[in-house]
Amino acid sequence: MAPRLFYGAPPRDFCSRSRGSQNPGCPSVSHLQNRKKHSENRTQYARHLKGSMKDRKICALWNGGPLYRGSKAFGRPELPLCQCQLPERITEIGSDVKNGTFLRETGNRNMYMDEVNLKDVIGLEELRRPENGEERGQTVEDEAWSLLKESVVYYCGNPVGTIAANDPSDASVLNYDQVFIRDFIPSGVAFLLKGEYDIVRNFILHTLQLQSRSRTDAASFKVRTVPLDGDDSATEEVLDPDFGESAIGRVAPVDSGLWWIILLRAYGKFSGDVSVQERIDVQTGIKMILKLCLADGFDMFPTLLVTDGSCMIDRRMGIHGHPLEIQALFYSALLCAREMLAPEDGSADLIRALNNRLIALSFHIREYYWVDMKKLNEIYRYKTEEYSYDAINKFNIYPDQISPWLVEWMPSKGGYLIGNLQPAHMDFRFFSLGNLWSIVSNLATAKQSHAILDLVEAKWSDLVGDMPFKICYPALDGQEWAIITGSDPKNTPWSYHNGGSWPTLLWQLTVACIKMNRPEIAARAVELAESRISRDKWPEYYDTKRARFIGKQARLYQTWSIAGFLVAKQLLANPDAAKMFVVEEDAALVSAMNSMFGSSPRRKRGSKAPKNSYII
Ligand code: GLC
Repeated sequence: MAPRLFYGAPPRDFCSRSRGSQNPGCPSVSHLQNRKKHSENRTQYARHLKGSMKDRKICALWNGGPLYRGSKAFGRPELPLCQCQLPERITEIGSDVKNGTFLRETGNRNMYMDEVNLKDVIGLEELRRPENGEERGQTVEDEAWSLLKESVVYYCGNPVGTIAANDPSDASVLNYDQVFIRDFIPSGVAFLLKGEYDIVRNFILHTLQLQSRSRTDAASFKVRTVPLDGDDSATEEVLDPDFGESAIGRVAPVDSGLWWIILLRAYGKFSGDVSVQERIDVQTGIKMILKLCLADGFDMFPTLLVTDGSCMIDRRMGIHGHPLEIQALFYSALLCAREMLAPEDGSADLIRALNNRLIALSFHIREYYWVDMKKLNEIYRYKTEEYSYDAINKFNIYPDQISPWLVEWMPSKGGYLIGNLQPAHMDFRFFSLGNLWSIVSNLATAKQSHAILDLVEAKWSDLVGDMPFKICYPALDGQEWAIITGSDPKNTPWSYHNGGSWPTLLWQLTVACIKMNRPEIAARAVELAESRISRDKWPEYYDTKRARFIGKQARLYQTWSIAGFLVAKQLLANPDAAKMFVVEEDAALVSAMNSMFGSSPRRKRGSKAPKNSYII
């Protein structure tokens, strides 16, 4: 059946997403007129529909350079046309020696917006902002749903992601009007849990196209409407990615590709549709990320070596080297990829490298990143300058590095994985996301995972306080803050990345707690958040030691705060769904890991370590 075209007057429901002035007949005009411009994408989408009778539109991918457009076969030239360059049309990703990577178009299909599908995808009819009266009686969860749906970004009429923050009263949007890959993960999970799969599928496929155009992964993208070359009356929508080249500090988003793999697997698990992960372009995308991560460099550790600010903490915070968050995501992505990669002759080497890395990485993290009272006491008595293969203090850690705060802070029951490990350097700060995702991904052993949750309980007032969850503990201050952050005024002690509290972390906390069969810990945190987060307008983060204030420069209506809360609520109501994130290690992997663990860390040259080039 031919798809129905979506031309002419937009459906009434759509009006709630456009600016009131553009359609005076819209029922929610007055409400919308009070709101400032939400985001360009909404306006663009409104313009897109409004102008569709007059403009011919082409959707294209753009990165400041030549546009990537779809087929020249426009189909019905007499009609105004949105010629989306949809993911279905890309079946190959190749390498171009001169220009890096490129897309090879092999399909020729025109896709038209289908009104019926569009509505079904995201429940557009629900997008209308509630009238004032209707708001009464809404639960916090209801409000979160309407806000999440309002944050949806459309490309050629299809939902492709969610905007980072959607605060109508804030004019200084910076880059918060973009779709961030990492920020979309909780949004995507919320939609998956609700059975709304298309937005996640579109996100996966569109970001794959962006990824294939750079050596690194995109941190974020934006839908722009630009004039069409040589035609004044026509505009086109383009996806404009940022690979970190315009990000503050020009940070490389190493976590994006890893999250992309994790979301891809989750999409298959929740929707039951494995056809996406089986596509040739998607398989190629997985391999490209893996090759980048598994490539040989100068580093000798199995952990991934990255620059400062390459993950959720995307500013200078002294996390360059081998930060835990990246390692946990890396491990998780390796396991997910291992499960999804289609067995074929050409990938045998890759799978071998992947398996070796999994084993070495888990041993390295479990053994050398772990601290509890017992381990601290060992470090306290470390001998230094040990030259030999059977050194105990392999990384030459000087015991004086154990800071006074840690001696006081470490509970007698519990422990955690430290933030970073380098030669002669242990970063003892507790980084929440790394620890939580180590539980989820099985990077931490079951015993360690329970101990991390024990520590969360024991240190509740420090890690949760008045709003869950501290991004890291403790904050850097004084000279340490000045030297490590470069006197960053945004990362002052107990603010933002430097000991601020981020509601989005609720969802990872919930998955971790459910996995360890201790959901009551997450439930307590969610209850606390629920008591004030809506009143506070869904801030990006909170400040002060106990998270009492809304963050100094926090955006309001931050989408991943909203989505993080929603996912936590959904999972607590349906704990079985959390299992979708857990990748069981198979018997061969477990036995290889156990045999390493059983052997003494005082390894002698030529002892039974797997053949690879890492120090383990
Ligand atoms: C901040 C956060 C980063 C997030 C971005 C968009 O830069 O540090 O993790 O992705 O805002 O919300």
